[in-house]
Amino acid sequence: MSLEHHLIQASFDQAADQYEQHAVLQKESLLRLLERLGDDLKTAPGQILDLGCGTGWAVPELLRMYPESQLIAADFAPSMVAKVPEHPQVTTRVTDAHAIDVHAQSCDLVFSNLMMQWCDESTVLQEIKRALKPGGIVHLTTMGEHTLHELKHAWAGIDDKPHVNQFVPAAQIADLAMRLGFEDVIADSEFITMTYANVVDVMRDLKNIGAHNVDHNRHKGLMSAKVIKQLTQNYAEFRSEDGLFPATYELVYLRARKPADDKGLPLKIKS
Ligand SMILES: C[S@@+](CC[C@H](N)C(=O)[O-])C[C@H]1O[C@@H](n2cnc3c(N)ncnc32)[C@H](O)[C@@H]1O
Repeated sequence: MSLEHHLIQASFDQAADQYEQHAVLQKESLLRLLERLGDDLKTAPGQILDLGCGTGWAVPELLRMYPESQLIAADFAPSMVAKVPEHPQVTTRVTDAHAIDVHAQSCDLVFSNLMMQWCDESTVLQEIKRALKPGGIVHLTTMGEHTLHELKHAWAGIDDKPHVNQFVPAAQIADLAMRLGFEDVIADSEFITMTYANVVDVMRDLKNIGAHNVDHNRHKGLMSAKVIKQLTQNYAEFRSEDGLFPATYELVYLRARKPADDKGLPLKIKS
């Protein structure tokens, strides 16, 4: 595991206690993903894997939607997993999405809200495909390339360090899924804008939910009053009439199916 990967894990692990309190965007994304899932999947999946389950926010709703299903709630942050609600049909697992600790071809549905943006998309999609039964389906959300463009713009006027995570375009995720042999691939995106009282709150919210940049080139010091002032000035063109600071998130949805005739053989990635 790389240093960045360890830092992401540690960051989420430490964020577990405050996660639900601050994760407004994640909750909104979760509700939208659950709605799409309900519209798409009318028959109950036997085995659901909630990958990157966090505190298990999705668990009660998944059980309400599919009362007969078995659920594995999996996340690599032990403190998150410890918060998953207990239920006879729910098992928890501390496992990394890059090497998921589930049997091959064991899941009918892989559900994942806002985890994949922290991961190597190709490895995780291959793992999801391995975990799915032939004909099984994945529904996930991740962050798109336009996410936090205001903050990126504000920082770009100060230095060229990567203060905000880089996210990939929706079309690239769809393309990757198809090259990995998924079918019925649908990827689209929508924008959600949140507003904050000041630029420090924008940055703090990212940190509270473990979403701050952990790239090794990141700026490591505390923000000085001078930097805060500069960031605030550079944010000016985006501020609303009432002076609030908007932060735009591009929410990417991916829905894809493992072919019913997939034999589970090692993948030859189509170029
Ligand atoms: C933004 S939270 C979303 C949690 C949950 N899905 C929800 O909707 O509330 C992202 C979660 O993904 C987990 N995560 C990130 N990278 C992961 C990885 N490589 N393997 C497993 N879990 C991971 C984090 O620990 C965190 O709990």
